[in-house]
Amino acid sequence: MRIIIFGAPGSGKGTQAEMLAKEFSLEKISLGDILREEVKKDTDLGKEVKQYMDKGELVPDQTVKNVIDANLAKDNFILDGYPRNGQQARTLDDILEKRDSSIDAFIYLEVSRDTIVDRLSKRRVCKNCGANYHLDTMPPEKDNICDRCEAKLVQRDDDNPEVIKKRWDVFLANSKGVFDFYKEKGVFISVDGDKDKEKVFDQVKEKLNDRKAILD
Ligand code: AP5
Repeated sequence: MRIIIFGAPGSGKGTQAEMLAKEFSLEKISLGDILREEVKKDTDLGKEVKQYMDKGELVPDQTVKNVIDANLAKDNFILDGYPRNGQQARTLDDILEKRDSSIDAFIYLEVSRDTIVDRLSKRRVCKNCGANYHLDTMPPEKDNICDRCEAKLVQRDDDNPEVIKKRWDVFLANSKGVFDFYKEKGVFISVDGDKDKEKVFDQVKEKLNDRKAILD
């Protein structure tokens, strides 16, 4: 299956993408993680994208197109963080068409603004392996220490109130073009992302299994 997971910043895309990748044996491709890795390594690409990410703005379409083209798996993937506007949706469609491929399901995690502010302000990530925690709902076993690799947990640079607001505004301004595109394609699935992560996962699984039954 070829799946896109979509939602506002902090809607739980990364969390659900990881769970779905395990459940359906998919390759998880997270554009945000790829870009953050480039920033960490201080590559030319990292230097270029950092200025946009720090402000909560979208990196230019052409730059992210090249990254997606180079990283997209042939089949069985879940794509997190791309596309984010109508132009990127059309670009992805062109890339897939050249590979005789297409998207099977577009999952939209619908969440309220209050949930987003809570989740992002209390998110902590592992400096070393990137594992994701929430201080109340998914805390680490030891304070500020990663359960997986025991490295220190930190707050992401863009998880501060000013940048969160900017990311939310960018999401509101750009999402309609993406919704219209995938509704037209007949692959749009919407779930209530305000619930706890297992409940969200159950809804997504149920809808994906319905969709799989149609495709098989
Ligand atoms: P990116 O890294 O993709 O950030 P984002 O879209 O803002 O999304 P997040 O990673 O913050 O949140 P998420 O939805 O994955 O939620 P998570 O699972 O972590 O992009 C960063 C930047 O890169 C962009 O601003 C832009 O500059 C650039 N960029 C990326 N893609 C681009 C593109 N296509 N074009 C141009 N530029 C691009 O969950 C959040 C928190 O909530 C965690 O603490 C988690 O533990 C907790 N949580 C999750 N689910 C639940 C739940 N159900 N209940 C309770 N807590 C939960």
